[in-house]
Amino acid sequence: MIADAWARLLPAKTVTQTVRPGRSSLVDAIADEALAAFQAHGTYRRMRLLTSAHGRHVRVDGRPVVHFASSNYLDLANDPGVVEAASTAARSHGCAAAGSRLICGNSDLHEDLESALATFLGVEAALVFSTGYMANVGVLSTLVRPGDIVLSDALNHASIVDGCRLARADVRVFPHGNVEALADLLRIAGDAAARDKHRVLLALDGVYSMDGDLAPLPAMTRLARRYGAIVLLDDAHGCGTLGVCGRGAAELLGAEDGVDVYVGTLGKALGSFGAFVAGSARLRDLLVNAARTFLFTCALSPPQVAAARAALHIVEAEPRRRERLQANATRLRARLASHGIVTAPSTTQIVPVIVGDNEATMQLTERLLERGYFAQGIRHPSVPHGTARLRITLMATHESSEIDDLANAVAEELPRVTQSSAGERSVHRGTL
Ligand SMILES: Cc1ncc(COP(=O)(O)O)c(C=O)c1O
Repeated sequence: MIADAWARLLPAKTVTQTVRPGRSSLVDAIADEALAAFQAHGTYRRMRLLTSAHGRHVRVDGRPVVHFASSNYLDLANDPGVVEAASTAARSHGCAAAGSRLICGNSDLHEDLESALATFLGVEAALVFSTGYMANVGVLSTLVRPGDIVLSDALNHASIVDGCRLARADVRVFPHGNVEALADLLRIAGDAAARDKHRVLLALDGVYSMDGDLAPLPAMTRLARRYGAIVLLDDAHGCGTLGVCGRGAAELLGAEDGVDVYVGTLGKALGSFGAFVAGSARLRDLLVNAARTFLFTCALSPPQVAAARAALHIVEAEPRRRERLQANATRLRARLASHGIVTAPSTTQIVPVIVGDNEATMQLTERLLERGYFAQGIRHPSVPHGTARLRITLMATHESSEIDDLANAVAEELPRVTQSSAGERSVHRGTL
């Protein structure tokens, strides 16, 4: 259908395009060296091709499969109301914001979405960013000055890591989820901060994106409060999916009052694209004036904004979706456990099956695709070395039979790929 639409737009006779060879052999030499290293380490990646909308059934690399790899947790990306809102906005406001928010890209749609997000979260204000990556980088590089201290969980998202780098913060990483280690660091950082007049910021993910576990928010936010540290919560995967009202990990764990800066995305449960920072009105004002990833980039397009607004309405009106999502995740974890497959520490819709070996992990992904299930294998640097895994993500609309069949397929294929990769490794050792 899309190809037909293109054909109509193209002139009857098109000029034959020739491909110019790359001009710089130096660039290709750099690429060859780096790509050879990826190949050697089993971390070479290629993109899969989707030729359908995102729903629980998709077409991947030409194959119809059940989708267990997306962040479209509530199945809103292709919801008729969300799609209609995006189309209506395209007709009324066009397809582009045509500039940054501060030049000409700010519209009534942007401001309406921001007010709705603030109301949803029960805070004074929200500001939309073009991606979650940019929201984290922007807020960290605005609030943290060179030499200020950031206490960061070892498994925080890469955008928090990069935000700290850009801010030239003094970063102290504590072992994942370790409250005692955080308490020690806060004590030391608090003394240093008081002596040298530095700020201290605690950065946490609400839901850890590769393990599906939750940060111990009540204990950690209490400690931060005691030592006067700012708390930044990146709740990319909790927003819309957790808590009675969908306000995320902090709502679920009763720790909302301990969060100073909330980062949520529009590209996961909210079925659109982009992200937001929520908190006080003064924080919003500061970010508008100082966050470089807000200032120096094009605003979200009107259809994206309208889609997120429609999805937010559904998130608020249909709690049943997140109940089903979490029930589906519980079912999958239980089914895998019945086959002796450990999915701990997951307690959410992100369910990892640790394989360990890169090659075996990718073989498992391929074998599942052949059987009609798409769950992506994840390798370093997305996860630590030696912990490559199948990362399964649930949707509210998966059916019980699909979940059970996936669990059975994983249980059958996992020993096959681990045996075959162990066999290959021993052959290698034998020839050395
Ligand atoms: C925890 C976390 N934070 C931030 C992001 C970045 O969000 P975005 O994809 O909107 O850039 C992601 C993306 O997957 C994420 O998992």
